[in-house]
Amino acid sequence: VLFRSFNTAVRNYRVGVVGASGGIGQPLSLLLKLDQRVTDLSLYDVAPVTPGVAADIGHVCTPAKTAGYVGQDQMHAALKDCDVVVIPAGVPRKPGMTRDDLFTMNASIVQGIAEACVTACPKAMFLIISNPVNSTVPIFAETLKKHGVYDKKRLFGVTSLDVVRANTFIAENQGMDVNTMAVPVIGGHAGTTILPLLSQVPGASFSDEDTKALTHRIQFGGDEVVAAKAGGGSATLSMAYAGQFFASRLMAAMSGEKDVVECAFVENDLTSAPFFATKVKLGPNGAEEVLPYGPLSAFEQEGLDSLVPDLIVQAKKGIEFANK
Ligand code: LMR
Repeated sequence: VLFRSFNTAVRNYRVGVVGASGGIGQPLSLLLKLDQRVTDLSLYDVAPVTPGVAADIGHVCTPAKTAGYVGQDQMHAALKDCDVVVIPAGVPRKPGMTRDDLFTMNASIVQGIAEACVTACPKAMFLIISNPVNSTVPIFAETLKKHGVYDKKRLFGVTSLDVVRANTFIAENQGMDVNTMAVPVIGGHAGTTILPLLSQVPGASFSDEDTKALTHRIQFGGDEVVAAKAGGGSATLSMAYAGQFFASRLMAAMSGEKDVVECAFVENDLTSAPFFATKVKLGPNGAEEVLPYGPLSAFEQEGLDSLVPDLIVQAKKGIEFANK
């Protein structure tokens, strides 16, 4: 069952947000300020408004001390000794673009952030939201590897929004209580690489037509928002929710909460793709155990067979970029 309320256990986590003044960054930072486990909130962006965003959020009456950092020169100070770094930095899609079309812009942004993390907070948990996640996560990994500080348990592509969408759409379709939903979504975070496992929703039953339509809607939920925003960007609020949700679950596990299992895009050998979103058991050291995705329907197996080659190509693109 997904845990949605703000946990009141007080811990000392210093959390950095890179891209804190953007469309995702601002609501994400606000939600993190509400999280009682966060005692230091470090907000970084290149936008000059960042100290203002930090001042604004800093007035919210929760324990986290909030500080704003702006510009390249302050990135190291912003990231210094962070326990968790959430990264929504980069440019969003416009209608007609795929996430992969953002590669040219966002690849070097993510690489630069990884380089700063190498010296500022090499032992942090890194949560990547910046698209294309299927390539930016491999870029981040490769950059840390080059500097000898990569730990596969501490790097996550955030795919929680795919789970959030699956929960919402399937609960609506089945007339189920959305609070009880935790639909596994495996694969990656782009179009048909997103594979929701409808066959694993307890008590649900779908016509073939509904299975196809729901799967497609979950896979292209991001495009639905991009089209509705009509040039004004992509999902920001639901992504902020998803990012905070995953960060909060991870901090719960880091604090010793048992049996915390969430889907995330991590390095593993479940398939021939180097990174693959699946159920992951979280713990004090991050991704403690990569769990098998379980039995698939014929429709899901077909989806898996066709997405793995795409994930391999998109990871390779990131790895080659990082090693250029
Ligand atoms: C999403 O899933 O909404 C995000 O990855 C943003 C996008 O470009 O779709």
